[in-house]
Amino acid sequence: MSNRGIFIDRKSPVPLHRQLESALRAAILSGTLLPGERVLSSRDLQTHLGLGRNTVLDALDQLTAEGYLVTRRGVGTFVAPGVQKLTKPRPRSRTVKITPSETALSFLSSHVLAQTVDRVAPFRPGVPAFDAFPSRQFKRSFDVAAWTPQLLDYTGALGHEPLRAAIARRLRQTRGIVCAPGQVLITAGAQFAFSLIAQVMLNGHDTAIVEDPGYSNIRATLQASGANVVPATVDECGIKVASFQRRRAKLVYITPAHQYPTGAVLSLERRFALLDWAARHDAWIVEDDYDSEFVYTDHVQPALQGLDDAERVIYVGTFSKVLSPAIRVAYIVVPRSLCHVFEAAQEVVGGAPSTILQAALATFMENGDLGRHITKMRKKYDERRHLVSVALAELAGSNFHVDDSRTGLHLVAHLPESIRDADFTKRAAARGIVAPALSSYFYGKPTMNGVVIGYAATPASQIKSAVAALVSAL
Ligand SMILES: Cc1ncc(COP(=O)(O)O)c(C=O)c1O
Repeated sequence: MSNRGIFIDRKSPVPLHRQLESALRAAILSGTLLPGERVLSSRDLQTHLGLGRNTVLDALDQLTAEGYLVTRRGVGTFVAPGVQKLTKPRPRSRTVKITPSETALSFLSSHVLAQTVDRVAPFRPGVPAFDAFPSRQFKRSFDVAAWTPQLLDYTGALGHEPLRAAIARRLRQTRGIVCAPGQVLITAGAQFAFSLIAQVMLNGHDTAIVEDPGYSNIRATLQASGANVVPATVDECGIKVASFQRRRAKLVYITPAHQYPTGAVLSLERRFALLDWAARHDAWIVEDDYDSEFVYTDHVQPALQGLDDAERVIYVGTFSKVLSPAIRVAYIVVPRSLCHVFEAAQEVVGGAPSTILQAALATFMENGDLGRHITKMRKKYDERRHLVSVALAELAGSNFHVDDSRTGLHLVAHLPESIRDADFTKRAAARGIVAPALSSYFYGKPTMNGVVIGYAATPASQIKSAVAALVSAL
C-alpha cells in the first residue's frame, strides 16, 4: 500500500503514534485498506512519514491489540481478515437525522434506592486515592474562579462553556471521541447523568438492557423510571450482544472500557455488533466510561462513541475517579439530534453543578494539572494493583484466582465453590475490610463466586496488612 491519505500533523498536541493509529484505523474502517491487505512495513512507514521507529511500532501494536491488524512472523503485517465483517454493514455518513418523538420523553423517577457504604475501610471499590488529591493545584484554580464576578450569575443549562470545550478537547485526544463543545452537557455526577438520560429517554413501557453482573445503581435508576429492565450476560469479552440481537429495546447501558465489576474489555467484534444492533432497532447505547483513564498497559481501547457513525451512543464520563467523587462533576456527550431535548430537560431539573467549581475545573484542565495528575495516579494505582496481587498470591495461594485485569481501580478475585462469596464478604467486613461479593452484582442467578477488591484508595504501606486481614476471613 502507499501511505494513502495518512497525514501527520506535527503541530498537533495529539502524540504522533496516536495520529498514525487513528489514520490507519480510519483507513481500515473506510475500506481504503482492505481485509487481508498488507500494510506498509514499519520501516517503510518510518521512511514515508518521517516517523521514529517506536512511534510506528506503538501504533501498529495498538491496532493489533484492538484486532484491526494481524502480524505473520517473517511475512508482514496485514489488515485482519475479519474486519470486513465488522465494518461492512455500518452506515458511512455521520449526518444522520433522528428526531425523537414526543413519547421518547419520560416521567420523573418515582423512587431511588438508599445505599449505605463504608467510607473508610480498605479495598472499597469505586473510589480514588483520597490521600493523593492535588489540593494545592486545585485550590489555585478554585481561587481564580471564586473571585471572578461574571461567574456569579446563572449559567446556561449545558454548563460552563470553557469546561465543555476543555472536556471535548481532552476526549478527542485521549478517547478518540468526536464531538463539539455544544454536545457536552455538564451534570452533578454520572449518577445524575443516568437519571437525566432515563428521564429524557424512557417511558414506562420501554425496555432497557443492562449488563449482568453490573452496576446496581443504573438498574435502580432505570427501574425507577418505570422501564422494563432486562439483564444481558457478560463474559470475558464484555456484554454478550448476541443474547439480545433480535430483541427490541429503547436503550442498552454498558461499561465497554472496563466492565463493572468483572473488568472485561468489550471486544471489537461486539462493539460493532452493538452499534449495528442499535442502528437496526433505533435504540440508544449509554456508554459509561467511568474509569477508562486508568489503563496500565500501552493498549488503550478508544471509546465506543468514536466508532459510532450513526450517532446512537450517549457517552458519560465523570471526574469522580480521576479526581474525587466530592467534586460531583460529570458530563454527557449527547448525540447532535438529542442536544435540544437534553438542554431543555437539564433546564427543568436544574442539574448543572456550581459554575465556580466548573470554572475551577476548566482552569485545572487548561493549565495541564489534570493531565499531570492522571499520569501520576496511573503509576500509583498500578503499583497498588501490583502490591495487592502479589500479597494475595503470597498469603492466599490458590484460594483466590485473581483476574489479570490491567485497567481501572479494582480487581476481581474468584473464590473456590466451597467458599460462598456472600459469607466471605460478611467475615471480611467483621475484620474491617470491604470486599463486595461478586454474586451481589448479579441481576439474575449469580454465575460467579468471588469478591471485588478496590485497590486505589488504600495506601501502599497498608496493603499487605489489609490483604492479611482479608485472607484471614477465608
Ligand atoms: C460503573 C460506575 N459508573 C458510574 C459511577 C458514578 O460516578 P459518579 O460519582 O460520577 O456519580 C460509578 C461510581 O462508583 C460506577 O462505579
